[in-house]
Amino acid sequence: MNPLDPNRLPVHLAVIMDGNGRWAQQRMLKRVIGHQRGAETVKMVVEQASLLGIKYLTLFAFSSENWSRPALEVRALMTLLKKYIRQETGRMMRKNIRYNVIGNRSELPEDVNETLDEAIRKTADNSGMVLTLALSYGGRQELCRAAEQLVEDAVAGRISSKNINTEIFESYLDTGGLPDPDFLIRTSGEMRISNFLLWQLAYTELYFTETNWPDFTISELHKALADFQSRERRFGKTGDQIAQRGTLLNA
Ligand code: FPP
Repeated sequence: MNPLDPNRLPVHLAVIMDGNGRWAQQRMLKRVIGHQRGAETVKMVVEQASLLGIKYLTLFAFSSENWSRPALEVRALMTLLKKYIRQETGRMMRKNIRYNVIGNRSELPEDVNETLDEAIRKTADNSGMVLTLALSYGGRQELCRAAEQLVEDAVAGRISSKNINTEIFESYLDTGGLPDPDFLIRTSGEMRISNFLLWQLAYTELYFTETNWPDFTISELHKALADFQSRERRFGKTGDQIAQRGTLLNA
């Protein structure tokens, strides 16, 4: 495999980690085992992304819609999350990684929130990669919360409706302060966005692989990133305009 060009990596990589349940079912195992194996893949991807110098990694760990899964599975996922965060905070410190969370945290159990707060506080001064976990997260719900806050600010006279533009609106999203993802990977063969980062994915390059999340390997990650590097991102411009800009930048 050709080596990756360190200057053309995504600044922000987002991942929909799908297929834990199917991985387990194919092996006659409980779904929870699939999530446990999925957590091992999370460790590998976090480590690799940080080693490669990716600045922002955002993982879809639990959706707003996942609350409707069987209570046992929800509880197991929350326990796994807490365990992962507690176990990994030391490594995050050594690797200079900062934790961040997006989503409706008021829906999360108190003990999970306490664990998250502690990890966020401990890693707050780290200046390396920002690891964002999307928890109890839904894109539509995030947009509604942003609109609610915006209206409150407008009614209170803190902002005028005349001043609302994309930059202002973005600052009301959970991701305010983060750049939009350049690249999104979704595992397990499903080709949809599933209510993830609806606003932020407007110009993101999308990549789908058949591999279930527990089977996703370092070489698959590199293959995906190599695919990203082969793409021409135009942001609504023409190919000629992009080529001209490249020539000017290299002049
Ligand atoms: C999708 O698989 C995955 C999830 C709903 C949860 C993702 C959680 C992990 C990868 C492990 C814990 C996370 C962290 C950050 C430690 P699915 O259950 O929807 O799979 P299926 O579509 O095959 O049923």
